[in-house]
Amino acid sequence: MTLRIAVLASGRGSNLQAILDAVAAGTLDAMVAGVWSDRGDAGALFRARDAGLPAQLVRPRDHADRRAHDAALFASIDAAAPDLIVCAGYMRLICAEAVEPRQGRMINIHPSLLPAFKGLHTHRQALEAGVDEHGASVHFVTADLDGGPVIAQARVPVRAGDDETALAQRVLAREHPLLLETLRWIAAGRVRLEAGTVRVDGRTGAAPLQLAANQRFA
Ligand code: GRF
Repeated sequence: MTLRIAVLASGRGSNLQAILDAVAAGTLDAMVAGVWSDRGDAGALFRARDAGLPAQLVRPRDHADRRAHDAALFASIDAAAPDLIVCAGYMRLICAEAVEPRQGRMINIHPSLLPAFKGLHTHRQALEAGVDEHGASVHFVTADLDGGPVIAQARVPVRAGDDETALAQRVLAREHPLLLETLRWIAAGRVRLEAGTVRVDGRTGAAPLQLAANQRFA
């Protein structure tokens, strides 16, 4: 069954574009039901409109508080009846009332090897910590920011002389295949959240999946 995806994004939307390109190329059995953003200048909204997709701006300042904003946002998303909500660079905290009923149906891509380096400026955090390996993670969203069960990861080396920009580019190049491969597994019904734990092919303990250099999970 073709997976219906809702994408939430605040920024340039390169992860969204990777999804759109894979759907168009027939390498991901999915369709994007719409794109939602908290920022009118988000590149992701322009990419959605270019692709002829519904693109919805739900502005925080138009709502009394976070709870009211999230209620309006998720009412609009629910109307599109997605199977899965993908946070791809969505930079706002989502309140627990909106997250909890959707656990197992909402994922996030985060640019670090979780549980290391939650929150913002992850590449700076990695450089300051002096790690020799960094990367990206896809995880189920829970009320614990960047703390939900990790599904899959891609690793990159940190090289001598790296600055934030160089490291961010190396990670981003791996984020796109990581997100796509994770979506393929979810679309195939191979990955689920059950009782707070990731199950892969019905088994626990296999996650997080590791994206190999040939862009298939090892
Ligand atoms: C990515 O690094 C993603 O991991 C993080 O925000 C960035 C979004 O990039 N959550 P883009 O908007 O998809 O280009």
